[in-house]
Amino acid sequence: MEECYNEAMKKSKIAYTIVAPSSADAQILGEINAENWREVYPNEALGVTKEWVDRVATLREGAEKNKQRAEQITDSLHPDSLHFWKVARLPNRQIIGFIQGRKKDGVQELHGLHIIRQYRGNGIGQDLMDALLKWFDPAKPIIVDVASFNNKAIQFYAKNGFKPTGHTYHYELLPMTRMSTRM
Ligand SMILES: CC(C)(COP(=O)(O)OP(=O)(O)OC[C@H]1O[C@@H](n2cnc3c(N)ncnc32)[C@H](O)[C@@H]1OP(=O)(O)O)[C@@H](O)C(=O)NCCC(=O)NCCS
Repeated sequence: MEECYNEAMKKSKIAYTIVAPSSADAQILGEINAENWREVYPNEALGVTKEWVDRVATLREGAEKNKQRAEQITDSLHPDSLHFWKVARLPNRQIIGFIQGRKKDGVQELHGLHIIRQYRGNGIGQDLMDALLKWFDPAKPIIVDVASFNNKAIQFYAKNGFKPTGHTYHYELLPMTRMSTRM
């Protein structure tokens, strides 16, 4: 049964619902992820080359990753799953954004949040975030690793109670910073 967030319908001119994806959506989710990577992450000044971003993005929309994503989505449909996936769908069923979370070795992690560019700023990211926050145990911290220059995402996470932990590292060429709730 589809869940409809009336709050989102009030804030936004776009009609969308926040629902669970199916494994058949794995490929389109990979494409949205890859498209956002190619847009957001190239940063020549910091040595994050377009070529490297394109290589990572291509892997993310590739067959192997799609198979893994499809398996995770299927798993996430079980109530005791350690994986969480939700998508925002238009009435014509087009997916315009998604969120992915997991509980790994006891750590609650926001593992991906992507809205198609033209649909940003309409509260869709917030609605997906709210759905994930409800799934997590609020008594325990939630972490997210974000590119250290992705200021829009960092601000968005800060608004949702995430603070920089001081833990930084490189994911290959990409400088990353860890944020967490309940610091
Ligand atoms: C970061 C991201 C997920 C946020 O999603 P979003 O749907 O644009 O976020 P929201 O609309 O819920 O909120 C974002 C802003 O829009 C504002 N907003 C919400 N509803 C709005 C509306 N109807 N009209 C205008 N603005 C609105 C929010 O107040 C918020 O403002 P602020 O953060 O500038 O103060 C999105 O920008 C994105 O996909 N970025 C590219 C990928 C990325 O960087 N992902 C994070 C990887 S770690």
